[in-house]
Amino acid sequence: MLKKIITATAGVVLVGGLAACGSSSSDGAGSSSGGGDISMGFAQVGAESGYRTANTESIKAAAKSAGIDLKFSDAQQKQENQIKAIRSYIQQKVDVIAFSPVVETGWDTVLQEAKRAKIPVILTDRAVDSKDDSLYESFLGSDFVVEGEKAGDWLVQNADTSDTDGDGTIRVAELQGTTGAAPAIDRKEGFEEKIAADDKIDIIASQSGDFTRDGGKKVMESFLKSNDNIDVVFAHNDDMALGAIEAIEAAGKKPGTDIKIISMDGVRDAMQALADGKINFIVECNPLFGDQLMEIAKNVVDGKKVDKRVLVEEGTFDQEQAKAALPDRKY
Ligand code: AHR
Repeated sequence: MLKKIITATAGVVLVGGLAACGSSSSDGAGSSSGGGDISMGFAQVGAESGYRTANTESIKAAAKSAGIDLKFSDAQQKQENQIKAIRSYIQQKVDVIAFSPVVETGWDTVLQEAKRAKIPVILTDRAVDSKDDSLYESFLGSDFVVEGEKAGDWLVQNADTSDTDGDGTIRVAELQGTTGAAPAIDRKEGFEEKIAADDKIDIIASQSGDFTRDGGKKVMESFLKSNDNIDVVFAHNDDMALGAIEAIEAAGKKPGTDIKIISMDGVRDAMQALADGKINFIVECNPLFGDQLMEIAKNVVDGKKVDKRVLVEEGTFDQEQAKAALPDRKY
């Protein structure tokens, strides 16, 4: 896959010191703000999660302070809406298009249209799976395989305490993200690769909760009905983990104790649940890259060379680390 090739190239840059998320205008689909010399069309995935809300706020605030005229649309987790938005940005002849692809595949045609119109494209947060890397200038976002690996490593290292019923097998229920989305595919891959080191660990159930709290709750309810011996939940994001907590508590079990929970993102509500002992480990996925995006966009529009792959810096949190981090948490 192309995204794996670009991760391995020399042009990978790691950005740290991420800016705080500021306030933003409440633009709806296709709205415009900023009024600067450069215009950017941004096609967002949706508003499915706390990560996404923070990401949208970061992008809007950064565009405003960079003086970039931002045209923003929310695709409500539908690829066809993102494609429509990108086509409309091409028609409007914006200077640059940025988007976070809801799923990995099916982008070549619309990206070729942008290329023919000589409008540069920047991928943010999620990659596309395309053989033609000339269809975009740069990809700014996390390495989701590494995130999955961090989750898997934690479970292997904490295998003894994760066998909550002490029967010698660690049964994992996995709440997957949106089917076909890069973070769902890659986090699963990274996690499975690492847990293969311990044959006591077994994924006994795996289903998509679509990265939403409600989805996580419903899938967890059905997991609990058909399996009474789940030791661990591996949730591909915090919103689904928070939904799973509700389902576990409703079933009369104690999240974090009777069933261990590993999650992704590090949004404030989940960090609070981690500090309260209801989640056991969080792998951070940092949405606050608005300033980096605006910088890359300005360079692209100025015709300067930009790095093909820019990684976002992120860490991990256990329960004690969450307590220490919470007072300064920005999202
Ligand atoms: O692409 C990043 C993922 O998308 C985040 O982990 C999740 O919360 C979001 O919806």
